[in-house]
Amino acid sequence: MVDLHSHVLFDVDDGSENLEMSIKMIEQSIREGVKILALTPHHIRDLYTEAMDRKEEYEEKFALLKKRFEGKIELVPSLEIMIDEKIISDLDKGYLMGYNRSKTVLVEFNLIDYPLYSENIFYNLKKNGYQVILAHPERNRALMEDPEKMYHLRDLGVLFQLNAGSLLGQFGEKTESFARELIRKNLIHGIGSDGHKDVRRDMRIRHAYDVVKELNEALYENIMENGEKLIHGEKVEVLPYKPWTDPVKVKKRKRKKKGLLAFLKR
Ligand SMILES: [Fe+2]
Repeated sequence: MVDLHSHVLFDVDDGSENLEMSIKMIEQSIREGVKILALTPHHIRDLYTEAMDRKEEYEEKFALLKKRFEGKIELVPSLEIMIDEKIISDLDKGYLMGYNRSKTVLVEFNLIDYPLYSENIFYNLKKNGYQVILAHPERNRALMEDPEKMYHLRDLGVLFQLNAGSLLGQFGEKTESFARELIRKNLIHGIGSDGHKDVRRDMRIRHAYDVVKELNEALYENIMENGEKLIHGEKVEVLPYKPWTDPVKVKKRKRKKKGLLAFLKR
């Protein structure tokens, strides 16, 4: 089991506040059964840039935690990058980085909009050999209102990372049911805790793997196989998506038609 998304690195963003909290968070991951954990501090231009502006500090803190947990859990360096126009050149320059310093990158949208310009960025990233994982799409309002956009992003090569907390109702009922539907449609490709603290928005993740297994066993197998590859920055094969049409609604419509036909025949 891997955790693709966490704010365990201390004092660089709105995640862990200090070394002590980071230790508690990693200990929780170990108890959850996580074998490989990615440290993905925010990179949001003009808001959280410490992780990369103070790169030496990132490396020192990372090395400290890695050494402390050697043999118990594998820690992998990475970032959660807020989409903007400059990310391709920043990645190419090495200012920004992907999982395990590779070309597999965790990118986020804000929680409201679908930035149309991102399509161009995703297209160019793919063309330049990058593999993009979009963080917690189930929390984005524009995607929830129009799931077709997810299919479009998938066609541009984008993979999707589910937040474990979405399945605990941490972000409301709508997000939870959207997340469950994405699992059924093969529109989830990896799981992250997105843990920020040692309580509440913490490192719980096992339940999310269990829910995926319960709702879509083939997807569970695929995610288990791909997790380690993604977190190490390797390319993966994913399952094809299923159409969004809600089978329950279709059944209901058919039944209605039958009812009308029977009425006319009377
Ligand atoms: Fe995050």
